[in-house]
Amino acid sequence: MAVLEIKKYPEVVLKEKALTVGSIEDRHQRLIDDMIETMYAAPGIGLAAPQVGVSERIIVVDVSKTDETASLIVLFNPEIKDKEGRIESEEGCLSVPGLTVKISRFEKVAVTGLDREGRGIEIEGEGMLSRALQHEIDHLNGTLIIDRMGFLKREFFKKRRKKEAMRRD
Ligand code: NI
Repeated sequence: MAVLEIKKYPEVVLKEKALTVGSIEDRHQRLIDDMIETMYAAPGIGLAAPQVGVSERIIVVDVSKTDETASLIVLFNPEIKDKEGRIESEEGCLSVPGLTVKISRFEKVAVTGLDREGRGIEIEGEGMLSRALQHEIDHLNGTLIIDRMGFLKREFFKKRRKKEAMRRD
């Protein structure tokens, strides 16, 4: 197992629509082990494969720090099958350090996908788990928290990041 480098905005892989996993191979098992270790080391409550440079539909989520009924979740090809309610809350992202954004998400979701053995599973989540699942699925579609900000805030953020990048060069 290894801690992988977490890709940061504006790296291109974060903007791509990740590919569906057709068959789960040994390399995926290694990738998942590394993603889990990387998530815990960050520390974070979720990680999507594009964040470590792999454009495939794989997420890991563990919100047990704030929800003791929760445990580690590994999902291939996750899809939101059912949703209910809306709730707004602050969110951050390991790929966009230093930014928190108030984002409206579904209050409850039911997400289907495959576990690491390739069995079909369905996860029902509310609270932090619901939010984390939606956040990680966003990553698989190339959507970052920046894309969920209002237009003016987003333009302001992009300008500021550009200025910071210029200062570094
Ligand atoms: Ni994120």
